[in-house]
Amino acid sequence: MNRIIILLCCITVAFSSCTSKKQEEVKQTDSLTISKTNWGKVDQKDVFLYTLANANGMKVSITNYGGIVTSILTKDKNDSLANVVLGFDSLSLYQKPNPYFGALVGRYANRIGKGKFKLEGKEYKLAINNGENALHGGLAGFDKRVWDASELYTKDSVALQLTYTSVDMEEGYPGTLKSTVTYVLNDANELKIYYNAETDKPTVINLTNHSYFNLTGGKESNLNHQVTIFADSITPVDAGLITTGKIETVKGTAFDFTTPHTIGERIGNVEGGYDHNFILSKAKGTYGPVAEVLDTTSGRFLQMFSTEPGVQFYSGNFLDGTITGHNGIVYQKHWGMCLEAQHYPDSPNKPNFPTVVLNPGEKYYQLTVYKFGVKQ
Ligand code: BGC
Repeated sequence: MNRIIILLCCITVAFSSCTSKKQEEVKQTDSLTISKTNWGKVDQKDVFLYTLANANGMKVSITNYGGIVTSILTKDKNDSLANVVLGFDSLSLYQKPNPYFGALVGRYANRIGKGKFKLEGKEYKLAINNGENALHGGLAGFDKRVWDASELYTKDSVALQLTYTSVDMEEGYPGTLKSTVTYVLNDANELKIYYNAETDKPTVINLTNHSYFNLTGGKESNLNHQVTIFADSITPVDAGLITTGKIETVKGTAFDFTTPHTIGERIGNVEGGYDHNFILSKAKGTYGPVAEVLDTTSGRFLQMFSTEPGVQFYSGNFLDGTITGHNGIVYQKHWGMCLEAQHYPDSPNKPNFPTVVLNPGEKYYQLTVYKFGVKQ
């Protein structure tokens, strides 16, 4: 843990010393750039769309409204670029209800049963926004806040650093929480997401990114995507999608993705489709492999790594064709899949799950990486 913190400090120092204040497109190295365009205003605060680009033509667009990743352009096996995440072209569309496309989710990603939990003997009641439960940080979670943004440059990467201070009792959560999320792009086609946070009172925290991937570039649903998840067990859920507290092996079930399977192959055996937290096999507290996704037609390949203990694999079950996104594409059921690095859902009410409590003086840290490539 200490080594990770020291490494992160080095990275932050390296970035800070190279920070550029320029507002228009800046060529920092021959290959890596950030451009910035005005996207409008929310709560009297300026909102921008930043595009990080690398030498291979990969482009990641991120807005400081909700820290949302709005598009990721990657090449297929014929060198053809396409956007591989669901999203919109304008700020106003993100302000309408949508299922957290690309969003930076907090203070607590995923569900907290009945929207309440006890911490140090005191009960906290959260904003309820999903049946009788709290989902993804409440009615106005981190995905609906304007973050302060700065562009950072090093020799071999470009980054967007976002900070947001969530006040004590915002959406019912105790403690003033200062979060910093840094999106980094390099020439290895890695999108790295560093999360850091500190609190002034004990609180609970579970941050994630909620990108919906479609490696076909939106040509068809994700049912033919081949998925591997490095997890031997899951946390099963009840009818309200709240974890039961049990841990179940994936062996012999439709949840066994320890070898590649298409999403569509066994989804019929999973009521409602995949929307479950997988417990990663890597050693607790370590950075390691999470999942791999391959679209055999385009050859696009995604590898995911994280320091988190779990990943929510959500197969876009609630998408229903009522939302139209980039390039006029209608987002039908299973049009995008999420791989959300996280702690287990409803951990504040499940004492047998790894703790999500953050105390004053402690540092919350997460690194999650999405690496894009092609397989011929
Ligand atoms: C959850 C789904 C939910 C979706 C959009 C996912 O993280 O697991 O149940 O529908 O987010 O809110």
